Amino acid sequence: MIDSRKAFLTAVRAFFLFLLSWSVLGLQSALAVKVVIACGAVGIERQLCIEGAERWASQTGNEVDVIATPESSTERLAMYQLLLRERHDTVDVFQIDVIWPGLLHQWLLDLTPYINDQDAFFPNLVANNTIEDRLIALPWYVDTGLLYYRQDLLQQYGHSVPETWHDLERIALDVQNQQRSRSPDFWGYVWQGSDYEGLTCNIVEWLVSADAGNVVNENQEVTLNNQAAIGALEQAAGWVGQITPSEVLDYREEDARAHFESGNALFMRNWPYAWSLGNREGSAVAGKIGVTVLPRGDNGQSTGALGGWQLGVTQATRHPDEAVDLIRFLTSEAEQRRRTEHGYLPTRSALYEDPSVTGQNPLFEPVGRALENVALRPSSATDRLYKHVSRYLSQETHDVLAGRKTAEAAVESITQRIVDKSLGRYSVQ
Ligand code: GLC
Repeated sequence: MIDSRKAFLTAVRAFFLFLLSWSVLGLQSALAVKVVIACGAVGIERQLCIEGAERWASQTGNEVDVIATPESSTERLAMYQLLLRERHDTVDVFQIDVIWPGLLHQWLLDLTPYINDQDAFFPNLVANNTIEDRLIALPWYVDTGLLYYRQDLLQQYGHSVPETWHDLERIALDVQNQQRSRSPDFWGYVWQGSDYEGLTCNIVEWLVSADAGNVVNENQEVTLNNQAAIGALEQAAGWVGQITPSEVLDYREEDARAHFESGNALFMRNWPYAWSLGNREGSAVAGKIGVTVLPRGDNGQSTGALGGWQLGVTQATRHPDEAVDLIRFLTSEAEQRRRTEHGYLPTRSALYEDPSVTGQNPLFEPVGRALENVALRPSSATDRLYKHVSRYLSQETHDVLAGRKTAEAAVESITQRIVDKSLGRYSVQ
């Protein structure tokens, strides 16, 4: 009798527990929301973003959709401006280039009330993302231009790693000539020469490494029309057809990487993400490559363009709390640590002090050197005009590289167009 009563009570308890868990789960799914994030571009970036976002979704019980974005930064900006300007709520979280805060801030949520560890991020990145006292995006990863080289070929032909652009030219030409008997399609140097934002990064590196300024200074003076700048552009134009195939004038990051990974180039300029991909199984150059800081001009210092991406939330979102929670998760220390192995370098300064992060990773040393003399694109100085400034630069330099215009004519014309676009607010230095 007592036993059957006990069994009855146990069954009743189990039933209530079942009801309770069912209602908790039901409640949770009723509260769960779907957050849409636009992220990923080159290499395995999209896959890494999906992995991170899905981890957040399973931890919080929310859903997440990761939408693909154009690979080119220039095209991506056009898509974002359309979505943000029209106040679409179809995408909640946007991956934002380091040069865009001045262009997009008016449509993005101020994150200040949501974030309490701003100090953990590099202060200059937080400053870059703070417009009119509003923190409009959290820094996600840092990028800079680097020089990749074929360690095996430098050794085979008795060359060391180039320090100046002239060294690079000389070594590239020599190795190219010798390699051609085996590989007729072998070239010395590949980079990003298509007319888009990536070319602007290459240009600013050529300029800053030649001590020729970075186009517009903090006093809104256009500094481009100077002899060092003309010399730097002429030097780059001289590579095309000599050590660089003319196809580079259509190359973006992934084209340069594919060319280098096929084994048909000695040097490549690219971002840190190319390191782990170049060494992965299936790459013809795995285990044969080295990475270092870009060469300097004869009278300049090595540099790398400051690139990198942030995460921001549209003001039009219907789920601000969850969207901010997602970016908090993606920029967390654990996520940044995971992504570092793939060349997505942290924005939290503490990770640079941690030997378990930096110790085995050959990217940190050249990245540190590049950032000591970082080549800033003039996005803070030109704010909303940056998009035009970058377009004039890449368009006209593209003409110089293709042999359609002299470097002298290009710097004069770019300078004039920038001054005109600013309606005379900028002066010529
Ligand atoms: C990289 C950089 C970004 C830059 C882009 C140009 O993604 O991180 O800042 O604008 O390349 O292609």
